[in-house]
Amino acid sequence: DEVRPAALRWRSPSNIALVKYWGKYGDQLPRNASVSFTLQGAATDTTLHYGPRKSVGTGVAVQLYLDGKLEPKFTERTQAYLERLLPVYPFLRQLEIRIDTHNSFPHSAGIASSASGMSALALCLVSLEERLFAPLADRAAFYQKASYLARLGSGSACRSVYGSAAVWGEVPGLNGSSEEYAVSVADQLHPVFQTYHDDILLVSRTEKAVSSRAGHGLMEQNPYAAPRYVQANARTREMLQVLQRGDTERFGQLLESEALTLHALMMSSQPSYTLIEPDTLHVINRLRQFRTETGHPVYFTLDAGPNVHLLYPDTVGEPTKRFIRDHLLPYCEDRMYLADRIGSGPEQL
Ligand code: PMV
Repeated sequence: DEVRPAALRWRSPSNIALVKYWGKYGDQLPRNASVSFTLQGAATDTTLHYGPRKSVGTGVAVQLYLDGKLEPKFTERTQAYLERLLPVYPFLRQLEIRIDTHNSFPHSAGIASSASGMSALALCLVSLEERLFAPLADRAAFYQKASYLARLGSGSACRSVYGSAAVWGEVPGLNGSSEEYAVSVADQLHPVFQTYHDDILLVSRTEKAVSSRAGHGLMEQNPYAAPRYVQANARTREMLQVLQRGDTERFGQLLESEALTLHALMMSSQPSYTLIEPDTLHVINRLRQFRTETGHPVYFTLDAGPNVHLLYPDTVGEPTKRFIRDHLLPYCEDRMYLADRIGSGPEQL
């Protein structure tokens, strides 16, 4: 009987790592554990349309549209990803798939969309499995599978399927933690962290010169790799305690050291490279001066790029906003920044 074209739709947020994942092995497994806050505003809205395939081939029939426009490059990547999933999802071969995707942030903002994008797509795929076959045992099994599939697309994406905060990697004492998928640690957050802002200062929107895939690869020969993995695992454990205690100061120390360590690893790779810009350092230095002057617990982190994330609790929201406007926006391209905060996780639309 006829299967009518149907659709599934998920909105998934991005996430910002507090302890960074940098270095991988095997089929996208992490060399160390990592922990992140899930964002609220920065998100990808993805609709997966599917129908029966006219003639069944060996690969997967998919087309990807970004903001309504067919994207050959993303289509190719998505096809390769879905074909890697064929051992888990052989039925993908029998479908004709069209994916429509939109990001909440401007395409040119220099914000990576791989975490939110792969998470949204993975959630659509698990919903598709449930619709075509049978519901998974429970919601926990649903999100675990989505996290697993998201990880195969982009490592850090596996942390985006949960609200508030998530851990990826094996952490002693953290029940269920795994290298294969992330787990939620939302229930371990002290209330102060539920109020956290993440203002993303767009220092530069130029595309990064070295992809994170290449960056992970360079870790294999990095002389600091082994001690780094030991440090990151220890810091993930400590960060979890800090998040429970509500210790905003130690949180900030770990946060900033993680950001600078990530970039130090890039600088100490061979070939060496830098993703931060002079204005990134201007922002960091000015922020540290603000902290010395006011004592407000506003700390920075960095992703694999020049943009600066400022993390702070709601209690210092007003003075921080004024400080950003008056002293940091001059370092940003077109004075652009995204005011985001810790978020509640993906939603099915
Ligand atoms: O998920 P990938 O392979 O794009 O790696 C990105 C890793 C960082 O964003 C730099 C850190 C992290 O843990 O998110």
